[in-house]
Amino acid sequence: MATIHVDGSDYEVEDSDNLLHACLSLGLDIPYFCWHPAMGSVGACRQCAVKQYKDADDDRGMLVMSCMAPVKDDAYISIADEEAKAFRETVIEFLMVNHPHDCPVCEEGGHCHLQDMTVMTGHDRRRYRFRKRTHRNQNLGPFIAHEMNRCITCYRCTRFYQDYAGGEDLGAFGAHDNVYFGRVTDGTLESEFSGNLTEVCPTGVFTDQTHSAHYTRKWDLQFAPSICHQCASGCNISPGERYGDIRRIENRYNGDVNGYFLCDRGRFGYGYVNRKDRPTRPECRESGGEARAMEIDEALDLAADRLRGAKRIIGIGSPRASLESNHRLRQLVGAANFSTGIEAGELARIRRMEALNREAGLATPSLREIEQCDAILVLGEDLIQSAARVALSVRQAVRGKGTELGAERGIPEWNAEAVKTVAQDAGHPLFLATPDATKLDGIAAHAGRLAPDDIARLGFAVAHALDSTAPVVDGLDEETSRLAERIADALLAAEKPLVIAGESLGSMAILEAAGNIARALGRRQRPDAGLTLVRREANSVGLGLLGGESLDWAMAQLEQGDADGVVILENDLYVRLPAAKVDAALDRASALVVIDHQRTPTWERADVGLPAGTFAESDGTLVSLEGRAQRFYQVFDPSYLRPDTRIRESWRWLHALHATLERQPMETILLDDLTQAVAEDAPALAPLHQNTPEAMFRIHGLKLAREPHRYSGRTAMRANLNVNEPRAPVDLDTPFAFSMEGYAGYREPRREVAFAWAPGWNSPQAWNKFQDEVGGHLRAGDPGKRLFTAAAAGGDYCSEIPDAFEPREGHWQVIDLPQLFGGDEMSRRAEPIRERMAPPQATLNDTDAARLGLAAGERVTISVGDTVFTLTARLSKGLPPGLVGLPSGAIEEVTGGLTPSVLRWGQVAKAEHDSQAPAGEARP
Ligand code: SF4
Ligand code: SF4
Ligand code: FES
Repeated sequence: MATIHVDGSDYEVEDSDNLLHACLSLGLDIPYFCWHPAMGSVGACRQCAVKQYKDADDDRGMLVMSCMAPVKDDAYISIADEEAKAFRETVIEFLMVNHPHDCPVCEEGGHCHLQDMTVMTGHDRRRYRFRKRTHRNQNLGPFIAHEMNRCITCYRCTRFYQDYAGGEDLGAFGAHDNVYFGRVTDGTLESEFSGNLTEVCPTGVFTDQTHSAHYTRKWDLQFAPSICHQCASGCNISPGERYGDIRRIENRYNGDVNGYFLCDRGRFGYGYVNRKDRPTRPECRESGGEARAMEIDEALDLAADRLRGAKRIIGIGSPRASLESNHRLRQLVGAANFSTGIEAGELARIRRMEALNREAGLATPSLREIEQCDAILVLGEDLIQSAARVALSVRQAVRGKGTELGAERGIPEWNAEAVKTVAQDAGHPLFLATPDATKLDGIAAHAGRLAPDDIARLGFAVAHALDSTAPVVDGLDEETSRLAERIADALLAAEKPLVIAGESLGSMAILEAAGNIARALGRRQRPDAGLTLVRREANSVGLGLLGGESLDWAMAQLEQGDADGVVILENDLYVRLPAAKVDAALDRASALVVIDHQRTPTWERADVGLPAGTFAESDGTLVSLEGRAQRFYQVFDPSYLRPDTRIRESWRWLHALHATLERQPMETILLDDLTQAVAEDAPALAPLHQNTPEAMFRIHGLKLAREPHRYSGRTAMRANLNVNEPRAPVDLDTPFAFSMEGYAGYREPRREVAFAWAPGWNSPQAWNKFQDEVGGHLRAGDPGKRLFTAAAAGGDYCSEIPDAFEPREGHWQVIDLPQLFGGDEMSRRAEPIRERMAPPQATLNDTDAARLGLAAGERVTISVGDTVFTLTARLSKGLPPGLVGLPSGAIEEVTGGLTPSVLRWGQVAKAEHDSQAPAGEARP
């Protein structure tokens, strides 16, 4: 620690920080641009100047850039010094010489760091009277709009895009006062993290194009703290709503999880909330006829009547629904009749992953902790596609070598350019074993292409190399043995080694191999080693912990006639199992009630359909792949603005259905009671409600505001319907109010923050005011409760090692190639995501393709059992012969629900030129 003296006051600060970081962490305001809490200092903009004095007697001092000046004990500095203030004012005037001053039409306006800093420096007169330099803007694809004239040349965009996220197609071009930040030519930004440019850029050069079509200023949006539902990483988000539509999603800072950054699926995949074809009223369908809309009471009575006629009711839950909704369904049908709604193989792997997380002896690191790891082995996961935010953390872990090399030379971590220069291409070792190329290959010490069974064998061999009592892999070739030893050496040499595996390839053997490595590391006394196991969906972990049977079990119960009533919660069965299997089961159901927020093939079959809220219209809890239980809060009440809608939270429908079925009076139900009931029923979920503020949480006696204090037009919101404004909805379930009235400040610590704002800080940089130190943790602690506690390494090694993969003459093993864009059922209903989806292709090794006489882009037919479908061929040098890779998500649309995990082995042939089937279509 060090003592610094700032404008006459003394403060204790970390001596490893720079002055800007230290002062901002103390709550003192210094304007800045090029520095970013996650990216460190480069001293480019000169905006953060302060006066530093030699000692208490020095009255002249000298200007220093506070972001480049290390903290020194007994340092005297002044932020308020007149010369420093004048310098800062001049710098911003200079930076804005060519700025168009177009705030009224700029989409950054109202949450703009440049606006905030302009006000903070006191620059309010423009003296430059000449022509401004102008640029031509580029089309950067469906996510990001470009207005280069607003640039102040801080270089944050390229530092984030290239250095932090590894993108290669955005750069800085030109020289001196004519520098251009963009691509070589127009074209879609290739990075899966491009959306972060909208928050990283301190001005309006890069803005959210999905927001443009229904643009609303930040102060006019209603927010709630939420959790991304688009994969299992559990990123915290801040969705903004106006007039019943989600208008944009911004990052919500969680110091343990996503920090400042999201992936593009999570940021831009919200369009399914706003779809006009969503069911908004209950519907019934009489024996295959047209759907008829109906009122709530009629629908509940009809659903209860139908279900009462059933001899046994099965409940089918969903890993995309909250724990509370799933549990309420389980209460309705009874634990013995509850299915998780997850295909049997996947459910078995989810359960195995949970057991490994608890028993294999290694903790599951948070995303922030992954960044500190110094050797990583990834078995089978293309992380950018299957858990993008995890991949971004892995990238920072590799870059951590630069910090280490810098420290050896006395360079502090925050001195970003110096660390980068020292690091050059050095990185902590990353080993990748995947079937096809990944975007992390370029930073890997080794990136090997293997079939799933061979990936597992490599993992088992690494475990044996770590601990000779682990099972030997028979018949391993020389090269793989040497690689396994090299990986084992790197893991052993590391202080924080990490093993990552997951669900993508549908291989239990890969999970067991990862478990063996974890046990071996535990036995080699590596207490800081970690094990990350990637699940597919937002609440896959939660459903595994809650318990319940597989979807296959539920289908069998119906098909065998052991049950004939079924209630399906937020689940389209046709994307999980073959259509024939689902049809055979549902055809035998005498009562089929579906609760969902989308019109899916399952919804279309319902006798009674009840319209559910999406994440934006509901509250509940999800458990991320880290085992972190996190609450998401309702952003808006749809019935306030659209009185004709009957959308309700799924758990509310289930509660009402239960009461109707039992002919009981309807009692009020509160979310906290539901969460409590989940915690009591499932021992693994017992700590669920810890760290989550209960509905009665207040600050200074106030609820928490969902709307900024400048929210405008509230009394005109429903003027198109009636000028008599009803009272704003009352939220009994959470501490948040559907109102600007309530606590919206930053001084009182709180975990759940709907939107970041502090006086003078309107941009995402306002998170500084909520943190214990900038870039640290929220002062009240980061949201969420971790549920996994790793026991000491226990259990026996798994010895079920698969044989080496052998291609089979005339047959190809089908594998899933996860897709960030399109691989998730909900976000692929969003138009901008569909624009980024890869076409449904079949990926083949190029020698296999040559044998079939196939060229890239030609059509290929794949036959699996009775199903034949036609796709476009994509050739890959790396993919092992004998495999055919199908893109997850896109393929379900082509095959009518057959996923790669269901399609195990298929026959592949070149499509006849005269085939009637256009590429991308299935033929029965
Ligand atoms: S485009 Fe934005 S982030 Fe990039 S240099 Fe210009 S102002 Fe900075
Ligand atoms: S990594 Fe997953 S949870 Fe995070 S923003 Fe992307 S889709 Fe959402
Ligand atoms: S923030 Fe210090 S020079 Fe840019």
